[in-house]
Amino acid sequence: MAHSRDRAKVVLAMVGLPARGKTYTARKIARYLSWLGHKTRVFNVGSYRRAFFGPSQPAEFFDPSNAQGRAALFDMAVRAMTDMTDWLAGGGEVAIYDATNSTRARRQLVTECCQTHGLPLVFVESICDDPAVIQATIRETKTHSPDYSNMDPAAAAADFRARIAHYERAYEPLSDPSLSWIKIVDVGRQVVLNRIQGHLPARLAPLLINMHIGRRAIWLTRHGESLSNLRGAIGGDSELTLRGETYARALADFMRSRAAESEGEAMSQSNRPPSMQPSMMPAMMPSLPPSMQPPSGSPITVWTSTLRRTIQTASYLTTSPVKWRALDEIDAGLCDGMTYAEIKDTMPGEYVARKADKFFYRYPRGESYEDVIQRLDPMIIELERQRQPVLVIAHQAILRAIYGYFMDRPPEEIPYIEVPLHTVIRLTPTAYGCEEKRFPLLTITESDLTASSS
Ligand code: F6P
Repeated sequence: MAHSRDRAKVVLAMVGLPARGKTYTARKIARYLSWLGHKTRVFNVGSYRRAFFGPSQPAEFFDPSNAQGRAALFDMAVRAMTDMTDWLAGGGEVAIYDATNSTRARRQLVTECCQTHGLPLVFVESICDDPAVIQATIRETKTHSPDYSNMDPAAAAADFRARIAHYERAYEPLSDPSLSWIKIVDVGRQVVLNRIQGHLPARLAPLLINMHIGRRAIWLTRHGESLSNLRGAIGGDSELTLRGETYARALADFMRSRAAESEGEAMSQSNRPPSMQPSMMPAMMPSLPPSMQPPSGSPITVWTSTLRRTIQTASYLTTSPVKWRALDEIDAGLCDGMTYAEIKDTMPGEYVARKADKFFYRYPRGESYEDVIQRLDPMIIELERQRQPVLVIAHQAILRAIYGYFMDRPPEEIPYIEVPLHTVIRLTPTAYGCEEKRFPLLTITESDLTASSS
């Protein structure tokens, strides 16, 4: 995807017992690297097993003393590895080999395969000994995994525990100092790096250190209508119109009402016995240990850009915003302050070039969407780190890029994502994706304005 940076290939091979968040971590890494423009794919050996041997295999299948099961699992591991190397040879860049790889022998197999194909290899081991987190993951697996789709929940949990016990008997944690590896302990509580070289693997460290599985909302909104929006001009640093001011007030009222609601929810939940807690947190969240639960009624953090229209939009909120330069709108360079029609008339070549390749097109002396994503990388890490809700008041291109990360949209789609004015978008990251809800607060929309995107 990205054509202006390092195109090095790498294999990341997951290591760890079942129910240790390997697939969660693999998907998170894949989403992050794809967003940064690297062609990334997860090769999940469990999916091969299900495709070849059917969706559900009893725990005995995974018993290391069951020769037939062992041969079948070995065969699946090799098939996935072959597909992976084919994909890398065909232009793929980062392959994530998602399997337990829990014995030295299996890791040796992966190492030899990568050596044969001249591919750098980094093992990523997920370790977790906290019984509450493991229990939560088992519950999640039992309810979400295709392995147990038609099974009684108690029987599924018992079978899964038996499967884990089989793996535990043969498990050899990573310890070889000559290999490249990253060990993640208790979902980012501790991250140990060994012999990590190269741009890409090193780039994963901030993500892995800051990731957590607590549930919280990320609220996104553009600033209220600005004078430039009204004129159809891009960029600039104009003030809000009267309608924009009305939105700023509506946003403050809305956020206040949401805060009151979530406090009410927190209160009514804390009065119920644990068995009757509503399942507000799908996936792993309901039974997380208290240290990983979001603080109830915690205040919202507000972020704006350094431009006047976002700061004014935050002005009726009770929390004062943190102003980030990285959240400023895409820099239109020599086109800043022009309308799309003016660009078409005076710089037709630029207009056509942007239409042809909106993601990679860079405004003269300005930025492309690809540049915007690179500059937002630290913002994404900071958002991953936050445990309380965050309201981001920013701009169209910026919010497209942030939304694209959380919703796992391919980079080339990012410049076209709908982010209308006067609408609040709530994203709630969950174990296997992100929930979205949109709240249009004013009836005036982009189509009422001449400033709609090109
Ligand atoms: O028109 C409003 C605006 O925020 C401009 O400042 C910015 O250049 C533009 O949207 C980004 O959208 P697009 O990439 O579709 O031109």
